[in-house]
Amino acid sequence: MVSASAPGKIILFGEHAVVYGRPAVAVPVTQVSATARIDPTPAGEGLALVATDLDRRVNLAQASPDDPLAVIVRETLAHLGQSPPDAVLTIRSTIPIAGGLGSGAAVSTAIARALAGFFGQRLSPAETSQLVYEVEKIHHGTPSGIDNTVIAYGQPVYFVREKTLETFSLGGAFPLLIADSGVPSPTREVVGAVREGWSGAPERYEELFDQVGEVVDRAREALEDGQVKAVGALMTRNQALLGEMGVSSPMLDELVAAALEAGALGAKLSGAGRGGNVIALVGPGTSQIVEDALIAAGARYVIPTVVE
Ligand code: PMV
Repeated sequence: MVSASAPGKIILFGEHAVVYGRPAVAVPVTQVSATARIDPTPAGEGLALVATDLDRRVNLAQASPDDPLAVIVRETLAHLGQSPPDAVLTIRSTIPIAGGLGSGAAVSTAIARALAGFFGQRLSPAETSQLVYEVEKIHHGTPSGIDNTVIAYGQPVYFVREKTLETFSLGGAFPLLIADSGVPSPTREVVGAVREGWSGAPERYEELFDQVGEVVDRAREALEDGQVKAVGALMTRNQALLGEMGVSSPMLDELVAAALEAGALGAKLSGAGRGGNVIALVGPGTSQIVEDALIAAGARYVIPTVVE
């Protein structure tokens, strides 16, 4: 038996603008994870893919060509120069689906790592990220690549599409609450809506993306210097810009307002928006109050995490 896992992720700053070449910062979230486990079976049985949480079981040979599980398995096997083993590959995940926490990329990463481990081979973070990116294209349409990158590297990343990939260290601990709005956030659709807005008013959107880019650069410095208050203020500023892009929603606005009123140092949506998550940065002593306020404002659940 071989098993491997991968964490969830959140985008701290720069979603959407990152699709248009501006920087973004994302961090792994280790409180949630996806795990892939491979158990050998008798010769001739082929490779069965079992997604326990989704109640799915399919044999690789019968899987449709764009089945995300089959795609990552095929891509990885081709990369490793191996044929499908006779085995059962079981996937489990505690990462909420379509919630902006990178569930798809984490599942793919865990599968790629487990397959490499099964054959006694190793994949570098860059190789893993590239393999997972192929699957992200199915989920997202035109993904920037930030999800596969932060999850495969497992470290905070400063990312500019097709240009810059820098992992960096945080200068302090940043306690965050991740609040689920309960509304699914279909990344492909929201990215498409921004594309429409941009086509209709390119100058306005380019200006918004530039402003996001400035926020991201300042945020990276504040993260590296451990300036918690400055990071919070920049999160709230980023949220305002996301609102102007049209990717917030009354529910997300309400969650952000509730967190700030309860004493959060900053709050914003994270990921594609319209639904999905709100993240709130909390100071010592305010975590429980803000968590209660988020639940009272309608959050389905809150995951406390410390990014450090
Ligand atoms: O929904 P998520 O967390 O996978 O984030 C999407 C982030 C976008 O910037 C909106 C799209 C992208 O490909 O980067």
